[in-house]
Amino acid sequence: EKANMAIVFDQYKDRLATLPKKKGWISENIYMYQGFWHHSGRRTSVETVMALQDTFIARPTDIYLITPPKSGTTWLKALVFALVNRNHYQNHNLSTHPLLISNPHKCVPHIESELYRTTPTYVDPHSTRLFGTHISYTSLPQSILDNKCRFVYLFRNPKDVLVSLFHYANKLRDQSRDQMTFEEAFDMFSKGITPNGPYWDHVKGYHKFSLEHPKNVLFLKYEDMMIDTMKNVKRIAKFLGCPFTEEEEVKNVVQEIVRLCSFESLSVVSKHGNLKDGIPNNVFFREGKVGDWKNHLTDEMSRVLDEITKDKFHGLNISF
Ligand code: A3P
Repeated sequence: EKANMAIVFDQYKDRLATLPKKKGWISENIYMYQGFWHHSGRRTSVETVMALQDTFIARPTDIYLITPPKSGTTWLKALVFALVNRNHYQNHNLSTHPLLISNPHKCVPHIESELYRTTPTYVDPHSTRLFGTHISYTSLPQSILDNKCRFVYLFRNPKDVLVSLFHYANKLRDQSRDQMTFEEAFDMFSKGITPNGPYWDHVKGYHKFSLEHPKNVLFLKYEDMMIDTMKNVKRIAKFLGCPFTEEEEVKNVVQEIVRLCSFESLSVVSKHGNLKDGIPNNVFFREGKVGDWKNHLTDEMSRVLDEITKDKFHGLNISF
């Protein structure tokens, strides 16, 4: 896989050199490509986006779980994996469920990582493929749009996204670099300079797409999912064409899935070990709460972000 990555990075190095760049959150720089910022030289990077645009082939039955980073990707991957595969692991089989032994990112790959795999995750040409991605609407590989695939989009209060990203970036930051201060993180976030950001443009792109293609896109908010997870899991199941039967509801299958994918359950499974690219499994689990921004943002910072959000989401019927 390392060799595959080296080939891709080399192939796009001339294009990379022409892109605007800024200081990065984790690696040294981030680069502006098609209106969004990206890392370089890693699995999730601008070179990867370019290569996926050139080579990725979607199938009409594919399901894409799309999020701005730190909006609940790991949780969504677990929930959708559990509900789509529920007939394999129910009842007596639940003790062998993959989510009881593996990080959800291992169960549902990002298309960004799939690019470099020597053997693809999905070998059966008839199986429904589940993929995650952070790629913005404007940069999605054309094949995904042409095949009219289904998307579940999950977003979150930008103030909590900022806090989550701040902690995440400091944990993964190149060792040669000092830790970021929260002021620095706030400054970059509010200017839109975040991996796969500007955050607001990411949400707006998919929001517009969801209005144009309501049958293809389910638009979900982390805060709503937290208030009533069961209701939203049922919505996802219906949207994906595998609604829960009455019998399943009576047997508490929905509750079982929600419990299996709870912060408590997933974080215990991911206490140790790393993903393939060396990222520790536990870095995806911090607080898992709504409103932790209140412990980090000053009143002034909160006011500034509210103002940007109001302005950017004007007329969109999105509130937090
Ligand atoms: P916090 O840093 O605010 O705790 P992503 O998966 O997109 O990287 O997002 C990570 C955020 O989702 C983290 O937020 C993490 O704690 C939270 N999270 C992870 N698993 C969760 C779960 N099962 N339920 C709710 N939130 C979860």
